[in-house]
Amino acid sequence: MTRRFRNIVILTGAGLSAESGLGAFRGQGGLWVDFKIEEVATPAAFALNPSRVHDFYNLRRSRMAEARPNAAHLALARLEAECPANVLTVTQNIDALHEAGGTKNLIHMHGELAKALCANCRTSVRWWEDLFVETACGACGEAGGMRPDVVWFGEMPRELERIYDALSSCDLFVSIGTSGSVYPAAGFVAEASAAGAHTVELNLEASEGADLFLERIEGRATEIVPAFVRRLLGTYA
Ligand code: APR
Repeated sequence: MTRRFRNIVILTGAGLSAESGLGAFRGQGGLWVDFKIEEVATPAAFALNPSRVHDFYNLRRSRMAEARPNAAHLALARLEAECPANVLTVTQNIDALHEAGGTKNLIHMHGELAKALCANCRTSVRWWEDLFVETACGACGEAGGMRPDVVWFGEMPRELERIYDALSSCDLFVSIGTSGSVYPAAGFVAEASAAGAHTVELNLEASEGADLFLERIEGRATEIVPAFVRRLLGTYA
């Protein structure tokens, strides 16, 4: 890799935050092994049993509050700050570790756990406390509709237009710590390839779409991401 890329899109998933102590979704010890998606992460689940959904996200929010960005988050923030190229980071993660690590040009396509959304008036506010069915919205005063400002299964991911615009003009696409099993994110590599971009997967193991990437590096994010960023920055020296 000796090209000097000008427009870089980075897609991240749960594997990036795994070494910060926040579990991934699939595979051994994954959240979707212990919890059923349809019971905690869909609009229907919230309508049927909001307390169960709040319990699930309250636990995850309190774990997030204790987590710190790891070497991979910090390396990506360094890339954004030091690389002469445009760098856009698109994360599927709802934790706040990218921004804690210093990344600024960031899209949370699956929403943010550190925000609460009122289903009644659609106001979204920073939220680090637990949420309950009785929690009233500070804007409209209505109780019962406060929910984590995250994208559930069956809901539309955020800022897709901006993401597809960036993919259609990128010359490097890097996917990090994601199993490639949830669309539309799993389809981003094909978009970037169609735009002629170089594509790289950095993951613990081959993802479901691994064959779609031109280059693959396997290992732990805290090791392979800083090494990759050093190599990439080296091409501009
Ligand atoms: N370093 C690098 N990769 C890792 C590490 C690590 N330390 N630990 C795990 N991985 C890899 C796993 O091998 C797996 O391929 O990260 C990937 C995580 O995959 P998932 O758990 O499926 O997470 P993700 O791809 O982000 O899930 C996508 O699914 O449930 C929804 O909305 C949720 O945003 C999430 C989406």
